[in-house]
Amino acid sequence: MANMNRTQVQRAAMITGGAYGIGRGIAEYFSARQIAVTIADCHRERGQSLADRLLQQGAQAQFVPTNIREEDEVRQAVEQTVARWGRLDILCNNAGIERYRLAAEYTLADWDAIIQTNLRGAFLCTKHAMSHLQRQRGAVINIASVQAIACERQISVYAATKAGLLAFTRGLALDYAHSGVRANAICPGAIRTGMWEAAMANETDPEAAATSVRTAIPLGRIGEPEDIAPLAFFLASSEAAYITGATFVVDGGLLAKLAI
Ligand SMILES: NC(=O)c1ccc[n+]([C@@H]2O[C@H](COP(=O)([O-])OP(=O)(O)OC[C@H]3O[C@@H](n4cnc5c(N)ncnc54)[C@H](O)[C@@H]3O)[C@@H](O)[C@H]2O)c1
Repeated sequence: MANMNRTQVQRAAMITGGAYGIGRGIAEYFSARQIAVTIADCHRERGQSLADRLLQQGAQAQFVPTNIREEDEVRQAVEQTVARWGRLDILCNNAGIERYRLAAEYTLADWDAIIQTNLRGAFLCTKHAMSHLQRQRGAVINIASVQAIACERQISVYAATKAGLLAFTRGLALDYAHSGVRANAICPGAIRTGMWEAAMANETDPEAAATSVRTAIPLGRIGEPEDIAPLAFFLASSEAAYITGATFVVDGGLLAKLAI
């Protein structure tokens, strides 16, 4: 039955957390460049309205409501991707959550939520996508964070998941190099998204906090999702055929600067 709706496409991507922020930027960028996209996100309204908008623009897009923490939902998202586009070339493990707390003040529920989204979710998506990616000699792109490399205060659990994602990326690259599947990670700095807005809203003086972050960035501005998407597109392309297991920082120079 699913095959009746199949559309012939040259390449197809599944983007977790594709309804908003960096994921939405990647979905828009990919779909404007002839990559069919499955937006796998737990936010139904945003996901559906983005897919509708992309379709209206003539792109190939579908929304599959997905909580990446749930194996059945992930399995279904992958199945619906392959049923609709006939293939899966690119998995972008982008969905993630963060919570700011002192290390000992995280609850077990915080720990579970962050680990399950940022690590278990990426693992489940990769596990269920891999046979399809192998068929296309495709690519995995994991969205980690600069926090995987240098940490702010009060974000230790998130930072641990992102460092874990870099290690997972390297492991994937080794395990699947023989079958032509490449895996790379992108570490964004401060990017203007829902996550950024929520972090600023948590500050006692959001305006001052945003200014202090902006001042710390050598390029002098907060990044935009459009600053991340072109690198994801490149890493997914045949131009990046010799790049695997690598980590790319996109942070306006933030990590290049010693805060002394
Ligand atoms: N914004 C930044 O400054 C920044 C910096 C470094 C890394 N990142 C990383 O980039 C990625 C995207 O972040 P963002 O800033 O765009 O966040 P965002 O909160 O703006 O968007 C995240 C999207 O993921 C979805 N999502 C969350 N949990 C999910 C789940 N369990 N299943 C499916 N979808 C889920 C949300 O519905 C949302 O659409 C995250 O992994 C984040 O850690 C962001």
